[in-house]
Amino acid sequence: MDKYVVKGGKQLFGQVDISGAKNAAVAIIPAALMVEGVCRIENIPQISDTKKLLEMLALMGAKIRFVNKTTLDIDCSNVHLSDDIYDLTRQIRASYYLIGSMLGRFGKASTTMPGGCNFGVRPIDQHIKGMKALGAVMDISRGFIKAEAKGGRLKGTRIYLDKVSVGATINVMIAATMASGITVIENVAREPHIVDLANFLNSMGADIRGAGTDVIKVRGVDKLHGGSYCLIPDQIEAGTYMAAVAGTGGEVTLTNVIPKHLDCISAKLIEMGVEIEEGEDFVTVRRTGELTHTNIKTLPYPGFPTDMQPQVSTVLALANGTSVVTEGVWDNRYKYVNELRKMGAEIQVDGKTAVIQGVKKLYGAPVAACDLRAGAAMVIAGLCAEGTTTIEDIVYIERGYQDFVGKLRKLGADIVKISDPDPKSDEGIAEAV
Ligand code: EPU
Repeated sequence: MDKYVVKGGKQLFGQVDISGAKNAAVAIIPAALMVEGVCRIENIPQISDTKKLLEMLALMGAKIRFVNKTTLDIDCSNVHLSDDIYDLTRQIRASYYLIGSMLGRFGKASTTMPGGCNFGVRPIDQHIKGMKALGAVMDISRGFIKAEAKGGRLKGTRIYLDKVSVGATINVMIAATMASGITVIENVAREPHIVDLANFLNSMGADIRGAGTDVIKVRGVDKLHGGSYCLIPDQIEAGTYMAAVAGTGGEVTLTNVIPKHLDCISAKLIEMGVEIEEGEDFVTVRRTGELTHTNIKTLPYPGFPTDMQPQVSTVLALANGTSVVTEGVWDNRYKYVNELRKMGAEIQVDGKTAVIQGVKKLYGAPVAACDLRAGAAMVIAGLCAEGTTTIEDIVYIERGYQDFVGKLRKLGADIVKISDPDPKSDEGIAEAV
């Protein structure tokens, strides 16, 4: 199995360029299925989740051409449903956005239940509720999802989501784009990538208003046309480097960011004693003094992101005093704590609450990435620890971080990737996520 080996204790210095947002890309690529014409998408992160989604589109007949490493042309002029995608759709979470886009494009959908990181139960009842409200007949059995729009086309309606869900907001918004009439979706999520998806769809001819507020109004259109679009930078990738500098100390400038999207993360890091300077499209993060404890509760945007909880909790494990972290989004997102304990962290977890008693030092140890952000947290722990940390199961990390090792090495980190000569041994894990 591939692994990262980190020799800790080095401060980070320099500049790091942030890639395009994973969670925007994994919504926009499936949405491109509805576009009849060439969409040029810039700032696509080079990560395994985007590669898999592009493979799915290609299996459905899309023509995909890379203009450069992060810009591509997707032409979905001649696409069709295909059973060949099922092996891939089972591997990642975002494959469920194909339900919305297939219904929009073909009036029917055929896929599997999605994969994704395991933080307890991850229901998709709100997605299904939305599709049904739009007039889809849904058949979900034995891991397959089949849907068909009554009369061949979805029909706009008013939908109230019972839970603020990023995925359901995106999926219903995609499906409503090509429905007849007007759809109003209430109690929606407001994450930056939801706004990015709406902007992408609007630039291809959709009529979506209100993304970024808690009510989205979609006036359905008959057709989407080609165009070009540049993805926003990744809030969580940026936050991960900010947390890494907070942990190791040093000074790093993150370029290609939208500082406003980072406010919820910056605010907590500042409370912890980290200095942050914002420019128009960069932030500089500096930590020279001691780290101070704080309390955090994760919430939907603009609250503190759950996808930063493991990384910042890891830094709090090295702060003076006791911190209380409450997970407000997922039922079970503390599996990584067992790994951190192997490195000397003192953390007690009770349900959704973690009580972190800061320690003076973490010590290198063999650990595993339990999921994508937990894996990033292990890398941060390794960078801060005394000695050598080996991180296994890095396929999870590579689902979401473009060139993590290369970018960290440029900042002075001592981290290498050791590749398994027999890559087949990683496949079992990739399929289990
Ligand atoms: N929920 C339901 N029913 C649903 C959908 C969600 O009860 O139909 C619940 C979930 O169980 C959870 C809460 O609502 O308790 C929020 O889930 P949400 O739907 O917002 O999460 P998601 O769309 O499955 C996306 C990101 C996650 C991120 C969450 C929250 C993608 C592909 N995934 O997941 O990102 O944690 O939003 O912000 O966009 C990551 O990038 O590491 C990651 C896990």
